[in-house]
Amino acid sequence: MFAGVVTSFDSAPRYSRFTAPEASSEHDLVVNVLAAGLHPRVRSQASGSHYTSTDELPLIPGVDGVGRGADGLLRYFVLSDTTFGSMAEQTVIDTRRSVVLPDDSDPVAVAAAMNPAMSSWVALRQRISFSAGQNVLVLAATGSAGRIAVQVAKHFGAGQIVAVGRDAERLDALTHLGATDTVLLEGTPDDIAERIGRASTETDVVLDYLWGEPMAAALTAVVSNRADESRLLSWIEIGSVAGPVAPIPSAALRSCRLQIVGSGQGSVSPREIVAELPALAAAITDGTFDLTTRTYALSDIETAWADFEHTSERIVITPNS
Ligand SMILES: NC(=O)c1ccc[n+]([C@@H]2O[C@H](COP(=O)([O-])OP(=O)(O)OC[C@H]3O[C@@H](n4cnc5c(N)ncnc54)[C@H](OP(=O)(O)O)[C@@H]3O)[C@@H](O)[C@H]2O)c1
Repeated sequence: MFAGVVTSFDSAPRYSRFTAPEASSEHDLVVNVLAAGLHPRVRSQASGSHYTSTDELPLIPGVDGVGRGADGLLRYFVLSDTTFGSMAEQTVIDTRRSVVLPDDSDPVAVAAAMNPAMSSWVALRQRISFSAGQNVLVLAATGSAGRIAVQVAKHFGAGQIVAVGRDAERLDALTHLGATDTVLLEGTPDDIAERIGRASTETDVVLDYLWGEPMAAALTAVVSNRADESRLLSWIEIGSVAGPVAPIPSAALRSCRLQIVGSGQGSVSPREIVAELPALAAAITDGTFDLTTRTYALSDIETAWADFEHTSERIVITPNS
């Protein structure tokens, strides 16, 4: 069998021969992988920098995917923390962490969208008590996950949806996908703070993919412009594209009813994630979310790795196409 194999955390996976996986428990199923998304989470897995990394090598990257096993069913699966990922002709899945898809589902669309969509879907469903009509602000809304977060917020009936990002063209396009207002991260810090503050006086939930210094600046802007300090503000930390550490001003926590929570592996249990898979997979296969994809054969995995930095499309590896 062939796989993308990481033998050093400093270099991209290489297309290499690898021993085929075997089922070892009653819930295990070996599947032929049809599509596996190259998400930022997969990049950090392959570079050993993710917080779940065990430094074990060699490893096959890939945290999820779509595959078909000997039972003939098409499944989306999420892998547990393993060194045998989905960027391989075959992998072994735990059927309890999978959802059976309609047979005519597009494996590429599902593999591309589940991870970025799950980030906001699970945050709104499992980390806070979100209800229709509440107002949402999305930080780093022009990435794959942020772009779908705007659409997930709309899907769940959000009132105002404010999209914040640094790419003017992609930000503008979000108004066709549900954003009711946009804030471009351009200009002086004071300018940006003023515009974020003005757009978020009635924000209930922040879906934060940014973190770092820009998060602290945005937090100050949002908190100091609230129309009603007693209105609950739920700040959900989901990603950290702008930096792993944010200097949170103490006054922000005292001056309004602010709660900061994280959403990801660990803060959401596997059981809670699995509970959301059927509805999310159905929304994706129904075409609810708009996401552009780019596919690569498994043999081109090194090229896919190199191209990741230069595309806003979600890269999907198709090992058995
Ligand atoms: N917790 C979870 O469950 C979960 C699940 C999925 C993803 N995530 C995390 O969410 C984050 C985003 O994922 P993704 O799939 O959307 O990644 P992505 O498609 O690569 O998008 C990242 C976005 O962040 C923007 N960005 C990067 N640095 C920035 C900065 N300093 N200021 C403003 N914008 C900046 C990029 O803008 P440009 O295009 O302008 O560079 C891009 O639009 C990652 O940290 C990922 O690990 C978390």
